[in-house]
Amino acid sequence: MARVLVAVAGGAAALKAPHLLRLLRARGHEVRVLATPRALEFITPLSLAVAAGGEVATEEAWFRPDGRALHIELARWAEAVLVAPATADAMAKAALGLADDLLSATLLAGAKRVAWAPAMNEAMWLSPQTQAHAERLKALGHALFGPAYGPLAAAGEGEGWGRMLEPEELVERLEALLAPKDLKGLRLLVSAGPTREYLDPVRFLSNPSSGRMGYAVAEAARDRGAEVVLVSGPTALPDPWGMEVVQVESALEMRQAILDRYPWAEAVVMAAAVADYRPAETLKEKEPKVEAERLLRLVPNPDILKELGERKEGRILVGFAMETGEGLERAREKLRRKNLDLIALNWVNREGVGFGSLENQVVLLLRDGRVLELPRMRKREVAERILDLVKELRG
Ligand code: C5P
Repeated sequence: MARVLVAVAGGAAALKAPHLLRLLRARGHEVRVLATPRALEFITPLSLAVAAGGEVATEEAWFRPDGRALHIELARWAEAVLVAPATADAMAKAALGLADDLLSATLLAGAKRVAWAPAMNEAMWLSPQTQAHAERLKALGHALFGPAYGPLAAAGEGEGWGRMLEPEELVERLEALLAPKDLKGLRLLVSAGPTREYLDPVRFLSNPSSGRMGYAVAEAARDRGAEVVLVSGPTALPDPWGMEVVQVESALEMRQAILDRYPWAEAVVMAAAVADYRPAETLKEKEPKVEAERLLRLVPNPDILKELGERKEGRILVGFAMETGEGLERAREKLRRKNLDLIALNWVNREGVGFGSLENQVVLLLRDGRVLELPRMRKREVAERILDLVKELRG
């Protein structure tokens, strides 16, 4: 949780500032908001104040009769300043060190972490001036979030580079920026999602894994400074930024993708729900329907994690065990048989957790015999706890 100053500059994307403020507060951050005079032509101070749960810092409020100056106060208060939307003008001023308005003065007065969410016309973004200023800001240690390619606001513009990232992504990026980098340099391979085992080109065997648990591990590790490769079965989730994502379908493809990257990895988290069996043969053509009983011959898939455990060579291996019954003994047995350091036991048939849901309840069993029962929590938090242990095992 951080103290975040959202600085709203003048652009159509200022309309998204209230949503951004609300999201930040919902995530537990303390927020304050600053708006430039131009920003207030796009959005009212009242909308910003309501969303921020407090006053808006405006040009008029800059210097007070009691001698307090808002730019100094805000720069000291904020652990991070997010300029969203950021205009070409605001970026230029900050790059040059100008300080003739509240926003530029606050940034010059020693704001700690500064992140920019540019939003402008494509030609303005791509201009050599703006690009040079963006480079200068990066050299000063500021972060640039976006812009994205997409529909632009000005009439007749169509699509282009210059669209502000959506508030959800800005919050994610900001949290990543603020996270402690305690896994810096860790080379982590993560698997996620289900696999599909095709009978013919249109039919497959699979399971309801959403991929969320594995994606949460990959994203949390990225935010803590790890280098991440995510090998994912088919999911509805967008590719996370800041990592290599390898999309696969079948268990055999997943095995190959993982084995290819295993020499590189220092640690592996196998969160994928790999199908245990595949059809003995996959037909090239769609099989016509027949009105009769049909037998399906299945052959076992290779156990990827077990193979990794057989050539472990100092790597940290983490597995998941999805059980329906008590499961503790079975998980312990899997930990031993697959030569793991840690196994996360979770249940299929408990309400609100496991497959497809946003939350999970797991018991973590370690090689050294420790058993940690975690309460029900968001998958991202489960991911953080698993990574805390990976960090500890890494020494
Ligand atoms: O033995 P079980 O399937 O319950 O073990 C689950 C763990 O093993 C998970 O971490 C899963 O990703 C991994 N696994 C695997 N290859 C398989 C089946 C499971 O790597 N064929």
